Amino acid sequence: MLWAINFCCLAVGEASTLVFFMLGQSNMEGHGLVDGGNGSLAWLVGPSESQPADWPTLDCKAAAAHREGCDAAGANISALWSGSNWTESPNVWVDYWGNVGGTWGTVANGPLQPGYGYDEGHIGPELGFGFALPSDRPVLLLKCAWGGTSLAFDWRPPSSANATAPVGWCWTNFTAHARAALANLTSVYPGYDGTYELGGVVWHQGWQDGGDRAMAYEYEVNLANLIRDLRTDFGTSLPVSIPVQGTSQGWKDVVDSRLEIIRAQYNVTTYLPRVAAQETRGFYRDYTETSGACDQVYHWNCNAESYFYVGTVAAQGITGLINGDWEQPFINTTIPI
Ligand SMILES: *[C@@H]1O[C@H](CO)[C@@H](O)[C@H](O)[C@H]1NC(C)=O
Ligand SMILES: *[C@@H]1O[C@H](CO)[C@@H](O)[C@H](O)[C@H]1NC(C)=O
Ligand SMILES: *[C@@H]1O[C@H](CO)[C@@H](O)[C@H](O)[C@H]1NC(C)=O
Ligand SMILES: *[C@@H]1O[C@H](CO)[C@@H](O)[C@H](O)[C@H]1NC(C)=O
Ligand SMILES: *[C@@H]1O[C@H](CO)[C@@H](O)[C@H](O)[C@H]1NC(C)=O
Ligand SMILES: *[C@@H]1O[C@H](CO)[C@@H](O)[C@H](O)[C@H]1NC(C)=O
Ligand SMILES: *[C@@H]1O[C@H](CO)[C@@H](O)[C@H](O)[C@H]1NC(C)=O
Ligand SMILES: *[C@@H]1O[C@H](CO)[C@@H](O)[C@H](O)[C@H]1NC(C)=O
Repeated sequence: MLWAINFCCLAVGEASTLVFFMLGQSNMEGHGLVDGGNGSLAWLVGPSESQPADWPTLDCKAAAAHREGCDAAGANISALWSGSNWTESPNVWVDYWGNVGGTWGTVANGPLQPGYGYDEGHIGPELGFGFALPSDRPVLLLKCAWGGTSLAFDWRPPSSANATAPVGWCWTNFTAHARAALANLTSVYPGYDGTYELGGVVWHQGWQDGGDRAMAYEYEVNLANLIRDLRTDFGTSLPVSIPVQGTSQGWKDVVDSRLEIIRAQYNVTTYLPRVAAQETRGFYRDYTETSGACDQVYHWNCNAESYFYVGTVAAQGITGLINGDWEQPFINTTIPI
């Protein structure tokens, strides 16, 4: 029984709900286009002759070792389309809490399917994540994201706070919401079966901090503190999965403050237990090469495939951590000469 192995109190096969936190900024909200032309989800499940590129399919280790565009091994985008409609996940429910008219609120709530991105017309990492998890238990994704937010200010964790740099409002609002939701899961998950376990955290963030040298070079300390503080509040062995911030030109990125974010996201895995980082730069689709879904380098050019793969590898990381068999590949942020 995949999920039961490393959790203390579960009998094999017991169907306790697994709850995951999915946190970050606009790339966790999600800008992958659902319906539309090139790069959209509808286009991806459509006739293959309309799709331009043949990317190699690489697993997490190979994706980290090759500087090339790739598809994520284990992702099955065609399973999302029934032939006449999008498929609804049989076991994954999403509660997405974030930006509603300038304040926090419920953005969307329901069974996982395309349309849980920053609006109904888009997807974020939740789609690939939910569909890549084992389907033998009910799953609740508590997605909490707000576009344009940084780790240095908006998500600043308590252990990083001082007199001039206080705890961030995203940290405060997220933790308050999470505690309230966990105390009454039927309020966010109508089918809640009465028992739950925290499966872990997915953190997909970093564009904001990567645009500022001071924030970028503080990122590793803040990320390590965020993980420690999440564990203080929600459980000391909470698995944390980090699909790295790879949207800035993918492998072509040479901006040191942006590469510093990826380096930091990798490096925390070398000294904090139960943290997995996945290479994502291969999932970047260049706008001019692919006539992409939108021309926004900071949003994976709205490519649905990119977001789906980011979620897929995040699930592989967290599943590996839960099962105790995740092997962290080296993520290389040195620019070739
Ligand atoms: C992908 O999903 C489709 C539709 O559910 C299924 O027919 C196909 O076998 C799956 N492919 C793989 C490789 O799992
Ligand atoms: C497609 O799925 C959506 C969401 O589940 C549903 O609202 C809609 O009625 C479905 N459309 C068809 C044609 O089945
Ligand atoms: C965050 O929560 C505080 C209360 O803790 C509230 O005053 C504030 O408006 C919230 N921020 C947003 C943007 O909703
Ligand atoms: C608080 O932290 C910020 C960011 O690391 C730093 O720039 C500032 O000097 C610190 N302030 C104090 C009073 O320690
Ligand atoms: C839990 O949430 C449900 C639905 O929002 C509500 O009806 C119920 O009163 C809440 N229970 C508690 C103990 O807050
Ligand atoms: C990664 O973190 C370790 C432990 O803090 C540190 O010794 C090492 O220098 C860091 N590596 C890089 C490349 O920054
Ligand atoms: C879609 O991509 C194809 C192949 O790259 C290209 O020929 C076509 O012009 C693109 N369509 C749009 C609307 O950009
Ligand atoms: C990282 O990449 C650089 C540039 O291509 C290369 O020189 C170096 O050998 C790589 N490091 C490792 C450990 O693979």
